[in-house]
Amino acid sequence: MTTQEFLGKENFNIQSTAVSESCPSNIALIKYWGKYKDQIPANPSISYTLNHCKTNTTIEFFANESFSVQTFLSGNEEVNFAEKIEKYFKNIEQYLPWILKGKYIIKTENTFPHSSGIASSASGFGAIAKCLMKLDETFSGKNSEEESLQKASFLARLGSGSACRSLYNGLVVWGESDEVNGSSDLFAVKYADDEIHPIFKDFNDWVLLIHEGVKSVSSTVGHGLMNTNPYAERRFQEARENFVPMKGILKSGDLTGFIKLVEHEALTLHAMMMMSDPAFILMKTGTLEVINKIWDFRRETELPLFFTLDAGANVHLLFPNDGSEEQIKSFIESELLQHTQKNGVVKDVMKF
Ligand code: DP6
Repeated sequence: MTTQEFLGKENFNIQSTAVSESCPSNIALIKYWGKYKDQIPANPSISYTLNHCKTNTTIEFFANESFSVQTFLSGNEEVNFAEKIEKYFKNIEQYLPWILKGKYIIKTENTFPHSSGIASSASGFGAIAKCLMKLDETFSGKNSEEESLQKASFLARLGSGSACRSLYNGLVVWGESDEVNGSSDLFAVKYADDEIHPIFKDFNDWVLLIHEGVKSVSSTVGHGLMNTNPYAERRFQEARENFVPMKGILKSGDLTGFIKLVEHEALTLHAMMMMSDPAFILMKTGTLEVINKIWDFRRETELPLFFTLDAGANVHLLFPNDGSEEQIKSFIESELLQHTQKNGVVKDVMKF
């Protein structure tokens, strides 16, 4: 498919209305880090969509008023976010030709703590894209559910790359990979459920909030620094190659292989940051202490507790619901929680 197929219908009939949608966040296992023009990823990525961490968004549209956007996060006006959304709406006009023909009031709230550093851009843009597709149906006519989801994923990507994966539940792939049928750089696709061993369909993701607050380097700046990183091409190649073992692991239920691959991806992401110019480090002391404790725990107990990281200091603790989870949970509470800033942990689950 090409971008042409997502162009909007020129015949539309706008009216004032309000729509609401909800979208979860996601956590990548093979990471997207580095991109080209128009939000084309440098390599394919695969993520788990979370079940509890969500953004709920209402868009009020006032037809035939001059174009403007006002945004509220948990009731507080957010002027910077509104500017970002205005730019975004102008950027996607060819795909939704009615989009600049009215005024917007956007009210949004996250089910996870605002300061937690959990990626709110993924769930945020996911929810906005779903709202826009609902408005589009009202103004331009109905599409099939599949088409509408695919276009929502396409539009979400143009807001924030990782957001396009949040439109589907379970395991989701964004970026062209020879290993995944139908995969595309333009939108995300669901990884086939029948290609996933049951062990991976009931998993925990407990996010340890090591550092709450604003990150020193944003994801967007971090992606940009891959343009001059001498290791970038090798990294993009490795991410592509990692889909080969990942596919086998997911099918066979090879938890040991999964742990090795997922932790390697997380550490490679942060290694790329350290090898950028200028270099930056988003991990904190607590991040490293938790990683070492996880490794010691695994050596001593052979239980499947492992981690991934996104672009921040927080540690995503991953473990299956396979009978070992109670022992793992008590270890987390007694040994790992002390490395958070305020005993902060967000307990999510991936069940599908
Ligand atoms: C480390 O999707 O937040 O979480 O496209 O610039 O909005 P933009 O970046 P963003 O980057 C996410 C990076 C990551 C890895 C991942 O989710 O794959």
